[in-house]
Amino acid sequence: MPRIFISRKIPEAGIKKLREFTNDFSVFPYDRPITEKELIENIGDVEGLLCLLTDPITRRVIDAGKRLKIIANYAVGYENIDVEHANKRGILVTNTPGVLTDATAELAWALLFACARRIVEADRFTREKRFNGWCPTLFLGTEFKGKTLGIIGVGRIGTAFALKGKGFGMRILYFDHHKNEVLENEIGAMMVKMEELLKKSDFILLHIPLTEKTYHLIGEREFALMKPSAYLINTSRGAVIDEKMLIQVLKKGKIRGAGLDVYENEPRIPEELIELPNVVLLPHIGSATYEARNKMAETAVENLIAGLTGRTPPNLISIPNTL
Ligand code: GLV
Ligand code: GLV
Repeated sequence: MPRIFISRKIPEAGIKKLREFTNDFSVFPYDRPITEKELIENIGDVEGLLCLLTDPITRRVIDAGKRLKIIANYAVGYENIDVEHANKRGILVTNTPGVLTDATAELAWALLFACARRIVEADRFTREKRFNGWCPTLFLGTEFKGKTLGIIGVGRIGTAFALKGKGFGMRILYFDHHKNEVLENEIGAMMVKMEELLKKSDFILLHIPLTEKTYHLIGEREFALMKPSAYLINTSRGAVIDEKMLIQVLKKGKIRGAGLDVYENEPRIPEELIELPNVVLLPHIGSATYEARNKMAETAVENLIAGLTGRTPPNLISIPNTL
């Protein structure tokens, strides 16, 4: 029977599915991200690896996995894996797209609401017992109606995000390499150049994978094009934004705020960012619903089993990535 290693405890739904196939698997016993060294130590005889987005699946790890057939990532993003090297060695790589689309799109809306209506700040204020009665100027925010949403990347998540906003009476602009017929036909979204999107949007959303091309996609030049009243929302990967530059821009009030679920060097978040009042900061919980995490576990296990039994896994990754 094949040997399987799971790099951290995952929801029971996935384990249950795996047990129908084999009991010959082990789970990394500590509830923290595994290190590269620990991966190397554990991967020697392993044929199937189920890993997380926090795991560095480097060339060294891949080479230590002498019998490795498949790497099943428990995530839609897979910039943690050296896919090119794995493919060169004939190892399959898979991800878990689709099942976390709604969870992540909904969290992007949660961040939008939190930023626009200052929910977190207002909650803190109330808990500090500073509410002295209704006030005409207390916590004024921004209304959605009539505003412009600018979505960078309209794959599954970006599209779901836009469609969920149907009722708010907003104008939708998007940037991507391909026309999105669904968005154009269903909600009258308009495909525009990046520059136009940055200049015109009141809320800028990032729904793109991290690749060499998208690294620091939002930097000094892009921030300079944004409206002073703009909000930037990121639920994709931290490094698509130049985080140092974002801090400067927020400090100087060059945009109104940001809602972040992801950071450039997770789990590290710069102290300067933590101290800013005009940001909402979440600990990478885009897919953190019971529904999504259970389905991610099942999907990762399905991919793993397919790869180990000589079938084509449903979510096989082939590089290069788009956008
Ligand atoms: C979460 O960030 C994922 O890529 O699944
Ligand atoms: C990710 O799943 C995307 O395509 O948006």
